[in-house]
Amino acid sequence: MSVVAHETVETDVLVLGAGGAGLRGAIAAAEGGARVLVVCKSLLGKAHTVMAEGGVAAAMHNVAYQDSWEVHFADTMKGGKLINDWRMAELHAKESPDRVLELERWGAIFDRTWQGRIHQRPFGAHTYPRLAHIGDRTGLELVRTLQDRAVHTAGVDVHMETTVFKLLTEGGRVVGALAYRRSDGSLLMYRCGALVLASGGAGKMYRVTSNSWESTGDGTALAYEVGAQLRDMEMVQFHPTGMVWPAGVRGILVTEGVRGEGGVLRNKEGERFMERYDHERMELSSRDVVARAINSEVNAGRGTPHGGVFLDITHRKPEFIKSKLPSMYEQFLKLAKVDITKEPMEVAPTLHYMMAGVRVEPETGATNVAGLYAAGELASGLHGANRLGGNSLSDLLVFGKRAGEAAAADALRNAKQAKARVDPAQVDAAIAGLMAPLARPGGENPFKLHGELQDLMSTYAPIVRDEPTLEAGLEKLKELQSRALTCGAGGSATRAFNPGWHTAHDLQSMLVNAEALLRSAMARKESRGAHARSDFPKTDDELGRVNFVVERTADGMRVTAHPIPPMPEHLADALHRSYATFTPEEIE
Ligand code: FUM
Repeated sequence: MSVVAHETVETDVLVLGAGGAGLRGAIAAAEGGARVLVVCKSLLGKAHTVMAEGGVAAAMHNVAYQDSWEVHFADTMKGGKLINDWRMAELHAKESPDRVLELERWGAIFDRTWQGRIHQRPFGAHTYPRLAHIGDRTGLELVRTLQDRAVHTAGVDVHMETTVFKLLTEGGRVVGALAYRRSDGSLLMYRCGALVLASGGAGKMYRVTSNSWESTGDGTALAYEVGAQLRDMEMVQFHPTGMVWPAGVRGILVTEGVRGEGGVLRNKEGERFMERYDHERMELSSRDVVARAINSEVNAGRGTPHGGVFLDITHRKPEFIKSKLPSMYEQFLKLAKVDITKEPMEVAPTLHYMMAGVRVEPETGATNVAGLYAAGELASGLHGANRLGGNSLSDLLVFGKRAGEAAAADALRNAKQAKARVDPAQVDAAIAGLMAPLARPGGENPFKLHGELQDLMSTYAPIVRDEPTLEAGLEKLKELQSRALTCGAGGSATRAFNPGWHTAHDLQSMLVNAEALLRSAMARKESRGAHARSDFPKTDDELGRVNFVVERTADGMRVTAHPIPPMPEHLADALHRSYATFTPEEIE
């Protein structure tokens, strides 16, 4: 029996996270006959999914008849600089049209072509207009639809505002989790046959980010703690366009949909500078290229007074802007007093997404730990070194479903695991760790430590990195890690409504993610996709054949290079064919 009282709840499949991947996984698991419990630390559907505003990528060829899964596959691989898991890229490209049409059947609303088909807009580095969308609120519509479907699916239950702080294992298999209710701090022990991690990324370890408070990398850290492998943790995406002014809104996303609808980027001299960085694709180059271009313009003194560049869509008609980009129109008017139909926006890169994450099997989302599955932003592989816009929403639909199905089958096969004995010492140690900050009234302030971590990552792991900076960052991180071990709960000793206590816990997750990022970034001595090294400015063919895998060992965190298996012939063919054939005039 554990030292602190807790309630026990049993289910077949436990899903952590209630964004798109978690909800799609929950629906699939319940349809597979499992009892499903979704646990989220925020409210149902309040997730980073909504920040994929501009659309969901799927080769439905509604606008460009030439599009096909092969071209989508090739774009995804090329965007990811070929270190993607090619099987995931294949499944994703083949299955995303069905997942979008399924959403439509479940009630999602989309903008339409004149023939009444789902409209698809252009987006960066997609060869054809491929992003099914509703204005600039696609992620919101997707979550709304999945949420509605999930709560009407028999067998799905939800625990909101509940933070999971430990995965429980027995005999090397995940059999449950420990959690606390954020409102009153009461404890829960979940027991399950299988567990799906779908709790998103760790964007909040950076100062300027499009991520909300939930994105503290909890799932990645929980997986790492029980022995799951992480992959390519150096690969984090700076979305090229976040708001820069007023200071209080810095980092809020400005959808790529603005550029998809014709928005142009200019520096303070009025120059359309993308001409110098990618004169073919211009503003619709891949995100890594556009983000670095903006960064270079600002560093060269050609930025705006607030440290960004201008994004201008005023050449389109006001009615068009308001119908295609309603959120952007309102966002800039309300937050910055800028009417985007008349004036340009000021934008700069913002930390948006992690290609990095838990290593999974492509077909099932299974991790290397029995009973543990992962999907969505938290899982790695599909996007390689750089994600194309809109591929996140199709990712979470395709692989959320697959992970949910596989977890349900596993849980039903291993139903007795949900009742297996769990070593009380494991439970007690985790609870003691969670409670410790409450007993340190004089401990360091967790909010201050979080702020220091954000500054550290922004300074030492920015868009362009180098060895001395990364090394210095890691040294500083070690200091932060030891200070965090003795941090308090922000001055309050109560478990009820105590954000300082929550932050003390979240900080531990972010520190794991940050260490993995810094160590992996040091290991990848080349520039590839989102990982730019000024001391290794070129890609290295040898490193293009490996993923960097992070594991927990008795001596601490270890990063090793793992060879990427060779691509089968049919995919290699698809890749090569896609880059020789089409011209822009062929697009309707
Ligand atoms: O810019 C955007 O609308 C973001 C899309 C995405 O991250 O997929």
